This record gives sequence, C-alpha cells and structure tokens, in this order.
Amino acid sequence: MIEEDFIIRNTNIDSLKNGSITWQSPSNIALIKYWGKSEPQIPKNASISFTLNNCYTTTTLEFSKKKVASNDYSIEVIFENEVKGDFKPKILQFFERIDRYVPFITDYDFVIKTENSFPHSSGIASSASGLSALALCLMNIEKQLNPSISDDYFNLKASFLARLGSGSAARSIEGEVVIWGKHSEVVSSSDLYGIKFPYPIHSNFKNYNDTILLVDKGKKQVSSTIGHDLMHNHPFGENRFRQANNNLLHMSKILQNGDLKAFVQLVESEALTLHAMMLTSNPYFILMKPNTLKIIEKIWEYRKNNDSNICFTLDAGSNVHILFPERENEKVSAFILKDLVSYCQNNQYICDKLGIGATQIY
Ligand code: DP6
Repeated sequence: MIEEDFIIRNTNIDSLKNGSITWQSPSNIALIKYWGKSEPQIPKNASISFTLNNCYTTTTLEFSKKKVASNDYSIEVIFENEVKGDFKPKILQFFERIDRYVPFITDYDFVIKTENSFPHSSGIASSASGLSALALCLMNIEKQLNPSISDDYFNLKASFLARLGSGSAARSIEGEVVIWGKHSEVVSSSDLYGIKFPYPIHSNFKNYNDTILLVDKGKKQVSSTIGHDLMHNHPFGENRFRQANNNLLHMSKILQNGDLKAFVQLVESEALTLHAMMLTSNPYFILMKPNTLKIIEKIWEYRKNNDSNICFTLDAGSNVHILFPERENEKVSAFILKDLVSYCQNNQYICDKLGIGATQIY
C-alpha cells in the first residue's frame, strides 16, 4: 500500500453525530531497534518487536459534532481522571500530521480519556501504547463513516496513523511479533506501517516473558525525538542502519528456527549497540545507571551458572527488560526476586509477556 491509499474516501460526515469508543493498546519492546528517522516518521532501518500484554493504555474517545464548523482541532485530554493540558501539544501535533488521512477530525469536539496499566513516570514509554490506542479510536470513527473498509485495512491504517504520532507506536496494533520498516527480504514490509511477522514463530517463543526492572523512574534524560535527530550525521550512522537490517534478517530466522542461544546474543548486542550510538553521538549521553550495569552482570552470571537462556534488552533509558522462555519462568522469577529487585527504584518491577495486540473494549 502507498500513502495515497490511506486518504479517506466515500464518507458521509452527516451520518455520525456523536459517540464514544474505547480501545486498549499495548506497549512493545524492540528486539532490533529503531533509532534514526527522516520526515515524515520514516525509519532509517527496519525494526522488529515483541508486543507486550500487561503494559497497555486504555483510551476512550468521546466525540460530538461541532455546533459551529471550524478548521481547528477541539480536544480535551483527561489522563487518569485529571485534565492534562501538557499532553495537548503532542496530540495537536499528531492531529496536524494525520489530518490529510482522517479529515473528519476537524468536524468533532473530542474528549480523550486515557490511563495506563503501568505506573505513571515509570520510564516505560507510554507513547507507543497511547498513540496506537488513539489511532485505533479514530479508525473506529472512520469505520462508522465508511463501514465497507476491511479489517486488514483498518489495522494497517491504524498502524500508519500511529506511526505519525510515534514511530514505535506503529508496532503496537497487532501481536505477537511485528516488523516495521521496509526490508528487501521481508514480504509486504513497509516504512509506512507495521506488519505482523509473516512467518511461523517457533514454539520456544510461546508465552515468552519480559520482566521489566524499573531502575530509574525519573523523566527521560533525552527525548526520543532528540535521540533520533542525533543519528543524522552520526559517524557510525550508515553502518548502524545497514547492520540493523542485517540483524533483522538474522532475527527473522531465529524466530522461525527457535535458536535461543543465537537469540540471546543478538538481542543483547542490539541493546548495547543502541546505547553505543548514544555514547558516540554529539552531544553524547549515558542513559544506563550504575544499577543497570549491576543487573546486566548478574544476568550474565546467572545465565552462565544455570545454562539459562535469559537475556536483557534496553530502551533509550536505564530500565532493563529481562526476556526468557516460559519454561524457565519459575526459576528466573525466583532469581529476579532474590538478586535483582533490590536494584530497582522502590523495588518496582513489572511481569509481562508476549501479547496479541490491541483490543476494542466498547
Ligand atoms: C529506543 O518511537 O519513541 O525505543 O518516533 O520519535 O516517537 P518517535 O520515537 P520512539 O523511539 C523508540 C526508540 C526505541 C527503540 C524502538 O522502540 O525501536
């Protein structure tokens, strides 16, 4: 599909006066990382992620036809039952970017009520779950205006819209594994939207676990927008984008053949490479904290002593995602509780696992 395919057609705005829609949309964790983009939210390399199950945003979108027509966006944002003015600029920018594809957004007054299943300011990116949930709500309005759109189109366009809000949000519509970014060897992959992993996934990855250790719940030191920008003219940028695309191909094979040892090596290498990009950008950043490194050392020690397939990955922050197969759940959970939780801020951590994607609640 090309961009023009997402421009809305055959709608009858007068047919829909008001309504309310609720979607629950998950966060995701990248195995092969997206870091570097060009306008409009086009990734420099393809990325692949596990969709999560327990970390999600629930968004209710209430809409009513404007009494007086105008070209402005009329939105009110309520986050966890409080009016949130500071969320508005990001959503207004999102509306500007998607206006061409969902022009009905100027016809309604919107109230966006949203809440996260994970603790606020936990350092877990809520943009992926939040913007995908909002994109899905808007797609429901489109569907009501034009009931003939297919489920596939619905999902692809939801991902397309979500991407324009936050790149990684494109990967939060479906599960359990999603690829976003055009890759010459992955059929139907696209820079414009995420697609469900198009090959069978090995049973070793069934119910794969992701326990998120909240090392530092403070505000992110570098916003992803600034971080992505630092990949322009980065001394290692072009090599990194090439490497990521090669790694994606490798990961695609691993997910099909179930080689957990290779999985562990590749996932950790990607996480460290992401941080290496930040260490070597101008200006440079260290986003890991001392406890991030302590946790990594403990994971390596545990893996060696227990012949385990546990591994870590990181986002652009200090929290550690611990990935491990379901059959190791009991032993690894005991290890986390005994040896790792003390490195978390207020002992906080979240047990999550592979999920199937967003669901409509009402
Ligand atoms: C390190 O999706 O937050 O988590 O497109 O500017 O909203 P924007 O960036 P964002 O970047 C996520 C970067 C990452 C890696 C990843 O999720 O692939």
